[in-house]
Amino acid sequence: MPVVAISSGVLAAIVAVVVVDLFAIVFGLSFVRARRAERAAAAGLPLPGAKPVSRRDFFRRSLLASLGIFAAQFGGGTIAFLWPNLKGGFGSVINAGKLEDIKAAISSSGEPYYFGAGRFYIVAYDGKPSPEADYAAEGVTAQGIMPLYQRCVHLGCRVPFCKQSQWFECPCHGSKYNTAGEYKLGPAPRGLDRFAVEITEAGDVMVDTSRIILGPPRGVDTLGKPQAGPFCVV
Ligand code: FES
Repeated sequence: MPVVAISSGVLAAIVAVVVVDLFAIVFGLSFVRARRAERAAAAGLPLPGAKPVSRRDFFRRSLLASLGIFAAQFGGGTIAFLWPNLKGGFGSVINAGKLEDIKAAISSSGEPYYFGAGRFYIVAYDGKPSPEADYAAEGVTAQGIMPLYQRCVHLGCRVPFCKQSQWFECPCHGSKYNTAGEYKLGPAPRGLDRFAVEITEAGDVMVDTSRIILGPPRGVDTLGKPQAGPFCVV
């Protein structure tokens, strides 16, 4: 059965439409009942099945209904805002594409494969990402690739890759990371964070962006390569 993805924006729109409809129904029913009660009272007739509603009661009930609907709307909006994308968005397990295509793109472009919707890069990496016993990084590599979170671990700017230096260089305060996302220069406290990755039998690269795996501490340099050329951020 196909899985339907609901983005937070679509969910918020659905909640808004439902709430507006509810408000219209409740308000309309209250208004009709009040009018019937007024007409019945004017004619001196009892209203079957209901007590007459005074104008004050009508406004009080309308106010309570409005407050209730506002609370539902606020709650619905909050849930919609926090609702993660069910498929294909950041915060879920993302299919980044075929392993062979990603590797081909990396080698032909000379830079990491960027997947904007998932906020990560995929770099070619055959090393051992956790040379230190106290740094747990199981699952961040698979078949020669590793996903890196695009966010600078200093203050959160997106870190672009500099093709001429072959390092990641943060434009905000100048932190620099090598191709494996390991800390090299600047105020960043560690290397770039990573995500766990798995390759399916069909060759799809599945990146789990629901859990951030902290980057390696300063001093870890499993590549041992200087920058390849001039820096982009000086
Ligand atoms: S946010 Fe990247 S160096 Fe400060």
